[in-house]
Amino acid sequence: MEKRERFSSRLGFILISAGCAIGLGNVWRFPYITGQYGGAAFVLIYLVFLIILGLPIMVMEFAVGRASQKSAARSFNVLEPEGTKWHLHGYACLAGNYLLMMFYTAVAGWMLSYVFKMASGEFVGLDSAAVGEVFNSLLAESGPMTFWMIAVTVICFAICSLGLQNGVERITKGMMSCLLIIMIVLCIRSVTLPGASEGLKFYLIPDFGKMIESGIGEVIYAAMGQSFFTLSLGIGAMAIFGSYISKDHSLTGESINICVLDTSVALMSGLIIFPACFAFDVDPGQGPGLVFVTLPNVFNQMSGGRLWGTLFFIFMTFAAMSTVIAVFENIISFSNDLFGASRKKAVLVNGILIILLSMPCVLGFSAWSGFAPFGAGSTIQDLEDFIVSNNLLPLGSLVYLLFCTSRYGWGWDNFIAEADAGKGVKFPKWARFYVTCILPLIVLFIFVMGWYDKFFK
Ligand code: ALA
Repeated sequence: MEKRERFSSRLGFILISAGCAIGLGNVWRFPYITGQYGGAAFVLIYLVFLIILGLPIMVMEFAVGRASQKSAARSFNVLEPEGTKWHLHGYACLAGNYLLMMFYTAVAGWMLSYVFKMASGEFVGLDSAAVGEVFNSLLAESGPMTFWMIAVTVICFAICSLGLQNGVERITKGMMSCLLIIMIVLCIRSVTLPGASEGLKFYLIPDFGKMIESGIGEVIYAAMGQSFFTLSLGIGAMAIFGSYISKDHSLTGESINICVLDTSVALMSGLIIFPACFAFDVDPGQGPGLVFVTLPNVFNQMSGGRLWGTLFFIFMTFAAMSTVIAVFENIISFSNDLFGASRKKAVLVNGILIILLSMPCVLGFSAWSGFAPFGAGSTIQDLEDFIVSNNLLPLGSLVYLLFCTSRYGWGWDNFIAEADAGKGVKFPKWARFYVTCILPLIVLFIFVMGWYDKFFK
């Protein structure tokens, strides 16, 4: 059997896993959902969920990956007790990774196109209506949008084709380091804008009244979806990186590092976007267009705005691409684990497949905009995002949870031995009751309540 590839360093593992976690979820989805659900109260619930739901489940995914030395497509087959059917979840993971990319590549394409629009001065001198038009025409013209989606797909698969260490690890490490530096600079710029304090209040001081207006069930459901989305949990996207590391470090410690990095980037994006929205009188609750429709206005009114704007969209593109690369790495590994396909062959076939699968999302804004799955104005992208973020990720996380804690699955003892192998923070023993009996109920309860609020109220 072919020897499994390895990361060359621990930093590589942490930055790639963080790269998989940090993405559009932090810089595009987090700010607009926070804006829609009323600001700081949502942020608070989201942070609590990251700690009580996200962190333990991340440790479990890494443990399954490291113990099995396989991608999610085969990991359950290696670890499950004989005669059980846990491996069927491998197919859900596979579907989840493809489905995530079906809308993710399109949004990553928007980001890349904005780098060029900003740098070429397309927004200079435009008023807000005209800036909004630039975004609307990007959505309405399927040609350019297809071009940018294909560009992202080709660049990211090309990086993956260079191999784990030379491509994925080397390039993601560089991108992640630049991203963190650019973000800090932009944060300082944004919070020191005149009038930024209203935005800071909206973002940091909870107003539970607003949350009640939006419907508590729906807000909590959205916060849970966001916490799984931002950590890429439930579809094995993280598990695979466990399969590329040694047993030198305990998995709880590594997961804490990754969660802290991911949360810092999300919080910093909020610190960039909300003060700027309020400083320039832009509505933070306007939905997925938030960063595209509002921020060019902001940059237009800042001195050196064209440079700041270009840097900002470069960093957004880095964040998105580090996730795309990580998920493509999963998809390539699925092909290898399931069909024995070589890296090069997997890159070629999946590259074409992902481009075709991304087309419905692209066309959903133009030729197919008549299909509105959640009522007027909703799009195919909303449907794909809903299936992934609010269904596959929480339910998939539940499967990992039950697999690691139930004696009908891999079981607690195996899980804890794997999670605690190596130096560093151990998984707390007292948490056994919590993760076995309470955590699954929390996820199920929020899931059922969210569905009820969304569809039956
Ligand atoms: N975790 C990835 C993101 O936040 C999917 O974009």
